[in-house]
Formats: sequence, C-alpha cells, structure tokens
Amino acid sequence: MADMRIRRMRLSDLKDVTRIEDMSFPKPWSLNAFISQLSSESSVCLVVEDDDRLIGYLVATQYVGVWHLLDLAIHESYRRRSVASRLLDHFFEMTGRQQHRGYTLEVRKSNRGAIKMYESFGFICSGIRKGYYGDNGEDALIMWRDSEDMLA
Ligand SMILES: CC(C)(COP(=O)(O)OP(=O)(O)OC[C@H]1O[C@@H](n2cnc3c(N)ncnc32)[C@H](O)[C@@H]1OP(=O)(O)O)[C@@H](O)C(=O)NCCC(=O)NCCS
Repeated sequence: MADMRIRRMRLSDLKDVTRIEDMSFPKPWSLNAFISQLSSESSVCLVVEDDDRLIGYLVATQYVGVWHLLDLAIHESYRRRSVASRLLDHFFEMTGRQQHRGYTLEVRKSNRGAIKMYESFGFICSGIRKGYYGDNGEDALIMWRDSEDMLA
C-alpha cells in the first residue's frame, strides 16, 4: 500500500463511504448524518485512499473542548494492515497542537479488536453506557484519552 493517502472527505466521496459504513455496522449512519458532519465547522472528516480507491474514513467532532470520535471504518478487505492506525495517527497529529481537554468515543463492548486498537493509542475505559445500542441492547464502553498537554 505504497500509495496510501489521507485527505479531507468530500461530498463526492459519500457513495463509497456509505458503502463501507453499511458493510461495517449493524446500525449504519445515514447519508444525511455524513452530510451534516461535512457541513459542520467543528468536525473533521478524513478519508484514506489506496491507489485512488477509498478504503476507509474517520469522522470526529469537537464540543465543550473535547474531541468526540464518532465514526471510523476500514473496508473489509483492507483490515489488519494498519490503515485505521495511520488514520488515527494523522487525526492526532492534526488536532494535537490545538488547545482541548482530550478525546472520547463509544464502542460496543463486544468489539474487542477496536477496543484493543484504541487502548494501543492510549485510550482507557472510563465508563459504561448500559444498553446504549438500540439494535441489540448492547452496552457501550466510553473510552477517553487525555490531550497531549496532559500526557506531557
Ligand atoms: C476496527 C477497525 C476500524 C480497525 O481497522 P484496521 O485498519 O483493521 O486496524 P489496524 O490494522 O490499524 O489495527 C491496529 C491494531 O488494533 C488491533 N486490532 C484491530 N482489529 C482487530 C481485530 N479484528 N481483532 C483483534 N485485534 C484487532 C490489533 O492490535 C491491531 O494491530 P495488529 O494488526 O498489529 O495486531 C476495522 O476493523 C473496522 O472497520 N471495523 C468495523 C467498524 C468498527 O468496528 N469501527 C470502530 C467502531 S468504534
């Protein structure tokens, strides 16, 4: 994957993005949810391409001084090749220099792979939202990572 490239998401990416979203989550985001994040000034929407093929994306938004990682998925055939890790590195680099309190996200309790990945980026489990996911009543783990200032 020598030609892997990370850039800002555009409206014209949404067909590919929603295709990956639909194959990745039991309750995928709607097209409108992505459009709304793309039009928000407080949000960062990134995609990763391999040879011009869109293979993954990340969506995050900042409110009350905290970055909320809202959505992250990689095309099935590109998983376990450090693509999500590269996206996360890029995101932390982009946002790390700004003043903020830290990063948070919610993840399904059963999503062991994602939890392991977030832990390797310094996230820790800071709470549980009981029955958070409407499709199967699964709990969400709330994960937190301090800002670079606090880590230093
Ligand atoms: C979770 C997800 C984004 C990871 O993307 P990825 O590009 O495969 O992740 P990486 O290759 O960067 O993985 C980094 C590390 O995380 C851990 N990890 C990632 N996926 C894992 C899995 N399925 N099982 C176990 N460990 C896993 C491993 O430690 C991995 O390092 P290794 O491959 O050297 O062992 C991807 O599996 C995905 O899109 N899943 C469906 C959507 C989803 O669950 N998103 C997260 C919602 S919060």
